[in-house]
Amino acid sequence: MPNIDKSGTFKLGDRNVRRLGYGAMQLAGPGVFGPPKDRDAALAVLREAVACGVNHIDTSDFYGPHVTNQIIREALHPYPGDLVIVTKISARRGDDGSWIPAFSREELTSAVHDNLRHLGLDVLDVVNLRSMLGIHGPVEGSLEAPLTVLADLQRQGLVRHIGLSNVTPKQIADGRKICEIVCVQNHYNLAHRDDDALIDALARDGIAYVPYFPLGGFSPLQSATLSEVATRLRATPMQVALAWLLRRAPNILLIPGTSSLAHLRENLAVADLVLPDDALARLDRIGSDPATSRP
Ligand SMILES: NC(=O)c1ccc[n+]([C@@H]2O[C@H](COP(=O)([O-])OP(=O)(O)OC[C@H]3O[C@@H](n4cnc5c(N)ncnc54)[C@H](OP(=O)(O)O)[C@@H]3O)[C@@H](O)[C@H]2O)c1
Repeated sequence: MPNIDKSGTFKLGDRNVRRLGYGAMQLAGPGVFGPPKDRDAALAVLREAVACGVNHIDTSDFYGPHVTNQIIREALHPYPGDLVIVTKISARRGDDGSWIPAFSREELTSAVHDNLRHLGLDVLDVVNLRSMLGIHGPVEGSLEAPLTVLADLQRQGLVRHIGLSNVTPKQIADGRKICEIVCVQNHYNLAHRDDDALIDALARDGIAYVPYFPLGGFSPLQSATLSEVATRLRATPMQVALAWLLRRAPNILLIPGTSSLAHLRENLAVADLVLPDDALARLDRIGSDPATSRP
């Protein structure tokens, strides 16, 4: 069993979590819609993650919808005292699996209650407001109204901490005038580095940065350099991609998603992978290489 303590910890809200966490989106059915093909395998992945020391799980009630949260509850409830479950709100799913913005006061409030019920919690540890102004990436625009609703729900004691997802630096700065923001969850990986400056700024302010699609998401990262470095280090390309993120900044928390026990073990074994400086320098250049797939 890997010792994931070696990857270190970072403060998420009022608790230190291990930097190697787990993203639960892959536990729903194809297209993040409906039940998984193998529910027992999904339960086993979650239990193994926690047994290996993972104490940060990312989810949403719109994965499935509801399916992922129900599986988390079945696998892990009553939850270990140190487990931080982070969820996100602001979308609902159409009957065809489409992602529909759900930003009104009523929709955001019922999303918080749905997450509480399906996870079996009285209070949600961290809720990310996921901007739907752009579906595939951040788009400028005011998030004041929905964030004010979430801050009201926090004052009511239903939410402990608030984060933002799919947002611009301006939206984060504006948001911090409304409530404390403890984490930002945006698309970022070895080949998709739009947030480089933002990550460093958040690190200076002690705010966690949680990259989604750390392995490329629906289009897995592919690069000759990544493969060469992996071969040299006797690791897999996905392990090297995660190790690079751990080296990139101390406030980066990893939530790679997988429905496979073998992949979970491979991802957590990254705690033991040391990236030499010359490998790091080569990997750093991937983001500007046009031959690298940019998911
Ligand atoms: N805020 C947002 O808008 C947003 C958007 C997307 C995702 N998220 C969150 O971010 C988390 C991570 O993103 P993600 O799951 O979409 O993408 P990801 O972690 O970049 O990649 C997941 C994909 O990589 C595969 N994989 C995982 N480990 C692997 C390994 N060791 N070797 C080879 N393939 C491997 C998975 O397939 P297998 O199942 O076969 O392992 C899956 O297809 C999600 O789980 C979710 O919690 C947030």
